[in-house]
Amino acid sequence: MRLQNKIIAVTGGTKGIGAGIVRILAGEGAFVVFSGRSKTEGESLAAELKRKNQKAGFFQADISKVKDCFAFIEKAVESGGRIDGLVNNAGIFPTFSLPDTNEDLYNQVMSTNVKGPFFAIQRALKYMNEQKKGSIVNIGSTHWRVGPKDMSAYSISKGALRTLTEHVALHYIGNGVRCNWVTVGWVISDGEIEKFKKMGKDRAWIEGLAAEHIPSGIFQTPEDIAHACVFFLSDESSQVTGADITVTGGFHSP
Ligand SMILES: NC(=O)c1ccc[n+]([C@@H]2O[C@H](COP(=O)([O-])OP(=O)(O)OC[C@H]3O[C@@H](n4cnc5c(N)ncnc54)[C@H](OP(=O)(O)O)[C@@H]3O)[C@@H](O)[C@H]2O)c1
Repeated sequence: MRLQNKIIAVTGGTKGIGAGIVRILAGEGAFVVFSGRSKTEGESLAAELKRKNQKAGFFQADISKVKDCFAFIEKAVESGGRIDGLVNNAGIFPTFSLPDTNEDLYNQVMSTNVKGPFFAIQRALKYMNEQKKGSIVNIGSTHWRVGPKDMSAYSISKGALRTLTEHVALHYIGNGVRCNWVTVGWVISDGEIEKFKKMGKDRAWIEGLAAEHIPSGIFQTPEDIAHACVFFLSDESSQVTGADITVTGGFHSP
């Protein structure tokens, strides 16, 4: 129960890595308020946790819209009277090279992966600065620095998120607010399965890629990522800010 009674907001908790993070945080005693656009998945996960006597609430929100970011953070604060943690997990990763990326796609990626976290942090800071305490975790990728040729906008968005992480870490630690980053290697999430399905590949085919691409030979799981979040959100890391926990099994992008 390393997060007992902490109020933690998680964006994109309806599926994939985010759903794993929600489950693990709730299991550690946190009251988890999580967002996503999919009402059915969100309500079903909240009900699953309630059956286990864990504390969680789903709030339908599109993180690419600033008003939804604000409403989501307000909901978390309303639920517990404060906000102890925020995990910026929601993200999209379409595979388009720079020449193939049109304005709509670019805006979609940037709104979800950069603008969403920026404004969620802005609103959370309002409360965390006052509380003189708070922990923000941004879910990053090995692609933040250069990235694969067919993930141009995505790679750039994670680069911006990385800068945002270090910006907040440096400038708000004086108010007791910490901000850290988890580098995700490769997780066969709902989004990854969907992406490969469009290329005519199934889960078994994807699983075969681990031996070739990941030095550990094993894909990471949502729970692997969640455990790194638990450390950053707990008081065990009270002096840790601007840090990166790399959960990649040795996998590196250019
Ligand atoms: N899977 C990997 O190998 C990998 C590697 C590196 C980094 N990551 C990062 O890990 C994070 C999670 O990825 P994942 O693989 O778990 O993806 P996923 O299975 O597609 O799940 C993405 C989550 O984000 C939510 N989301 C997407 N757009 C949203 C929006 N506009 N508003 C609110 N929620 C939104 C989705 O909820 P709704 O559909 O309900 O809106 C869903 O809960 C992302 O930031 C991704 O970049 C993943």
